Amino acid sequence: MLATLWLISLFSRTLWTQPFISCSYKNLCQKALLSGNDIVLKCDLPGALWYFSSILGEDFFLINSMHNVKNMPSGSLQLINPQPTQSGLYRCQDNHDTLMVEYEIDFQDVTTLHVTHKALDQQPLQNETLHLGGEVLIFTQWEPWQDCNRCGVPGERKRLGYCYVEDPEEKPMPCGLYVREEKLAHTRLRPELQIEACLIHYNPAKEIGQPYLIFRIYQLGKLTNNMWLTCPFTSIYRPVSWEADNIPLTWQNELSGKNFNSSLDIVSGGRLLQVFQPATYRCFVDQEFVAQFNPSSTPVESLELVGPQMPRPQPKAHSFSLKLKLLLMVGTSLALGLLLFNALCSLQGKNRNRMLLVK
Ligand SMILES: *[C@@H]1O[C@H](CO)[C@@H](O)[C@H](O)[C@H]1NC(C)=O
Ligand SMILES: *[C@@H]1O[C@H](CO)[C@@H](O)[C@H](O)[C@H]1NC(C)=O
Repeated sequence: MLATLWLISLFSRTLWTQPFISCSYKNLCQKALLSGNDIVLKCDLPGALWYFSSILGEDFFLINSMHNVKNMPSGSLQLINPQPTQSGLYRCQDNHDTLMVEYEIDFQDVTTLHVTHKALDQQPLQNETLHLGGEVLIFTQWEPWQDCNRCGVPGERKRLGYCYVEDPEEKPMPCGLYVREEKLAHTRLRPELQIEACLIHYNPAKEIGQPYLIFRIYQLGKLTNNMWLTCPFTSIYRPVSWEADNIPLTWQNELSGKNFNSSLDIVSGGRLLQVFQPATYRCFVDQEFVAQFNPSSTPVESLELVGPQMPRPQPKAHSFSLKLKLLLMVGTSLALGLLLFNALCSLQGKNRNRMLLVK
């Protein structure tokens, strides 16, 4: 348990930043997001009460037992793998029924994502006029480009685009919040993902000396069927990249059918990788090496934390290629991974100190 706490304390302060949605006190913020990717709605009041009403407009009810929604100790609300049906109003209140903040969220269906790559000359969706009572314009509201997913070597970056409606009478609004119960299965009503190549220099100042995980997986060594690998600490909202035996697995190859032995998962923005051949797979989040998946020849699976390799000078007495070997029985590596992941999801520390709880 101590080891787990230690892992958590390391990761929570360095790499793991959650996609936080925030809105100023007593305001209502409308926002489009993607289904299938965890997010946190911010409310700064420990013990806050959250109420929900779906876009179909039924009465508000207290959120305390939705299986994929967690009230965090800070007062914020975490949605794990949210679904399009969870679009609606999320209201944070104190226990005197005073409104703190309110979010109207359109979880656009990630399975309908329109994916395009500039290098493959693929075109994003065109603006389109629809008749919904009156004439309205459907367009894509692009988010800023995310960071390049690698540095010092060619990488790729992506940006998300949400379906928006422009009505002459109102300000633009996410499609789901505009259309609401009118069940419109129009092909233009979908979110987008655009990818392009990028090359940025390696910047040592940005290096945070992140520890990384090494998974040794028996099934990966014996691969007779395919299996899925999950890059920890990431989602579609962050830059992620993979390598197989040091060869980058690019979106360009993926989208042109050239990643022969593996497949990047679009719906998770590359958090998941499906693999068909034994190899050493590595993943990077925000340009930082985060995890390595090694084929194991013995049925004993293990998870090892390596690091942090601190760039700053340190007293000599300690070794900083500090290797914490967690000798785990078969199967527990996954359990620990999950535990770690879950625990991380409920942490939001941002400070950078490294506290080592090791004897
Ligand atoms: C599509 O519509 C949006 C919103 O009105 C506008 O900002 C954008 O320039 C339009 N794009 C094109 C290609 O006309
Ligand atoms: C990937 O698959 C191709 C074709 O099946 C094969 O020739 C190649 O050796 C594989 N590469 C790796 C890294 O396994």
